[in-house]
Amino acid sequence: MTHAAAGFRHVSVQELTAYEGQEVTLKGWLYNKRGSKHLQFLMVRDGTGLVQCVVAADSVDVDAWRIAEEATQESALIVTGKIVADERQAGGVELVVSTLKLVGESVEYPITPKEHGIDFLMSHRHLWLRSRLPWAILRIRNRLIVAIHTFFQDRGFLQMDAPILTGNAVEGTSSLFELDYFDEKAYLTQSGQLYGEAMAMAFGRIYTFGPTFRAEKSKTRRHLTEFWMIEPEMAFFDLDMTLDLAEDLLVYMIGDVLAHCKEELAMLERDLAPLERVRKPFPRISYTEAVELLCSNETVDMLSVRIQALEEENAALAEELAANRKRYGQAKKSERRRLDAREIVIHRRTGEIAEALQNLPAWKASARSFKWGSDFGGSDETVLTWHFDRPIMVHRYPAAVKAFYMKRDPDDVRLAMALDVLAPEGYGEIIGGGERATDLVFLEEQIAAHQLPKEAFEWYLDLRRFGSVPHAGFGLGLERMLTWIAGIDHVRETIPFPRLMGRIAP
Ligand code: 4AD
Ligand code: MG
Repeated sequence: MTHAAAGFRHVSVQELTAYEGQEVTLKGWLYNKRGSKHLQFLMVRDGTGLVQCVVAADSVDVDAWRIAEEATQESALIVTGKIVADERQAGGVELVVSTLKLVGESVEYPITPKEHGIDFLMSHRHLWLRSRLPWAILRIRNRLIVAIHTFFQDRGFLQMDAPILTGNAVEGTSSLFELDYFDEKAYLTQSGQLYGEAMAMAFGRIYTFGPTFRAEKSKTRRHLTEFWMIEPEMAFFDLDMTLDLAEDLLVYMIGDVLAHCKEELAMLERDLAPLERVRKPFPRISYTEAVELLCSNETVDMLSVRIQALEEENAALAEELAANRKRYGQAKKSERRRLDAREIVIHRRTGEIAEALQNLPAWKASARSFKWGSDFGGSDETVLTWHFDRPIMVHRYPAAVKAFYMKRDPDDVRLAMALDVLAPEGYGEIIGGGERATDLVFLEEQIAAHQLPKEAFEWYLDLRRFGSVPHAGFGLGLERMLTWIAGIDHVRETIPFPRLMGRIAP
C-alpha cells in the first residue's frame, strides 16, 4: 500500500510551509530536475508554486527510484514525503520523498529551459502557460480582476453585463467584426458603453466587465483583437468627478497588486519604484497643453538624453557578453547555467535597445512637428509619459478625433469633454472615456455627421428623450493595464490565449 493510499493529506505547494515536519502528498508536474547516482532533485510545480522534492535511492522503493531517474519534463506525478525547512529554497521548504507515482508521462515536451523565439512560444501557448513568466503574469491578472470588483462593489456600483452581439458600432466603423445574425448584420461589441449608459439610467452607478473586439488591422504591441474592458458608467457625473474616479481606481489597483503579488513581480524582475510612485494626485493636463509639451525643446532634449543613455547601456552589455563568453570555457556547470540565463537576458535587452535606437529619431521628429487637431499616435503618447513619474490624465481633446457620443466643452465647442489616462514608463493609453452628450438634437446631428445608421441608435436616443441627465464613464483595458504593471513589452502575454491579427490559434 502506498503512503498516498494510506491517507496523507493532499496539499498545494503554496500551503507547504504550514506542514513543516509532517508527511504530505503533492500532485503536480515535473518542472525540471538534476541528479546524481544516488540522489535526484525534482522541481515539481502544481499550479500554485514550485517545490524541490529530494529523492534518495536508499529511502524509496525501486519503482519510485526508477520514476525519479526517468521522469521527463512535465510528467505528471504524485509525490508523498516529509516537509523540511530549507532556507535556500524559494518557499523556505523542500519535500523529502518517501513515495512517488507517475500519473501521466510526457514525451519530448517541446518547451525546454533554453531560449525559444516568441512565435514558437505563441504557437505553443497551451503549454507555454505552464512556464514561470506566464504563471507570474496571469496570476497578477487574476489579482487585478479581484481588485477591480472590490473597488467598485465597495463604492456601491453594480456589475452589469452588456451584450457581446450588437446591432450598432460604438467606436467607429473601421474596426468592426461583422457577422451574419439570421440574415441580419450584427457585430461583435467594441465596447459595452452605450448599454452601460442605459444601465446607469436604471441603476445609478454600474460597471461592465467583459470581452470586447476590434478588428485592428495593424500589428502593434498595444493591440489585441479581443480584449477585456472595465467600463464604469455613472449618472449625475461630470468630467472632473470621472477623473477622480479613474485616479482612485488606478491607485487602488496598484496598491492591491503591490500588496498581494510580491512573488510574481519579483519573478518578472519588475522595478517596483515606478509602481510605488503611483499616488494621488496625477497630473491633469489638457490636450492643448500636451501638444505644447510634445513640441517643446524640453522634449527634444529629453529624447537626446535617452538616445545617449541607450547607446551607453548597449556598449556595456556588449562588453559584458564578450567577457562572459571568454569565461564560459573554464566555467563549472552551475556557473554555465548562470551565464546561459544571463545571456538570454542580455539578448532580450539588446533587442529592445536596438529597436528603440531605430525608433527614437523618428519619434523625435514626429513630436516636434505635431499639429494641434491630430490624434496622438502611440509614439507621441509614449514620449509624453516620459515627462512624468506617474500616470497622466489628458482631457479635452479635439472633438474631431473622438467618438460621436462625446459632450462638447461649453467653453470651446471644438473640444470634447474626453479623458485619456496614459500610463507612465512609455506605456501610453490605458483608459479612454469622458462625459457623454445629453442633448437629443445634438446627438442626432452627430450620428448623421459620423454617417452612422440612425435606426440602430433609436434605443440609445431614448435615453435622451426620457430623463436625460449629465453622465460620464470610461473604459480601462485590462491587458494594457497589466502590460504596464508587469513591465513587459507586448500586450499579447497578458491574456491566456491572445487574439491578434494573424493569430487565432491555439
Ligand atoms: O479608448 P477606447 O476606444 O474607449 C472606449 O471604447 C469607450 N467606449 C470606453 C468608455 O468610455 N466606456 O478604449 C478604452 C480602452 C483603451 O484605453 C485601452 O486600454 C483599451 O480599451 N483598448 C485596447 N486594449 C487592447 N487592444 C486593443 N485593440 C484596444 N483598444 C482599446
Ligand atoms: Mg481611446
